[in-house]
Amino acid sequence: MPETIERVPIKLKVNGKSRAVSVEPRTLLVELLREGLDLTGTHVGCDTTYCGACTVLMNGAAVKSCTIFAVQADGAEIVTVEGFLRLAMRLLHAGSAALHLPTALVKQAAE
Ligand code: FES
Repeated sequence: MPETIERVPIKLKVNGKSRAVSVEPRTLLVELLREGLDLTGTHVGCDTTYCGACTVLMNGAAVKSCTIFAVQADGAEIVTVEGFLRLAMRLLHAGSAALHLPTALVKQAAE
């Protein structure tokens, strides 16, 4: 008889969009983002929780999504690199004064 794997329903907001999903309790947030929500800008770069390639904002704080279970993000607001990109594009199109920071970052990256 096959073993039934428990799934837990969670709700979270990712890049401004409300999402309702069900996950296994052992699912890492990075796995949910990449495999469950197809947000592949968040990467797994190590197996030591050291590199930071999986970093996202969770309720405004930077966290390593490989160290957090998806169920711990229930009710949270998550911003991934895709969300940052969307915000930067919005600022570019708006010609906002806040544009100076992304512009400086782009210039620095090009040097
Ligand atoms: S994948 Fe390296 S710290 Fe998370």
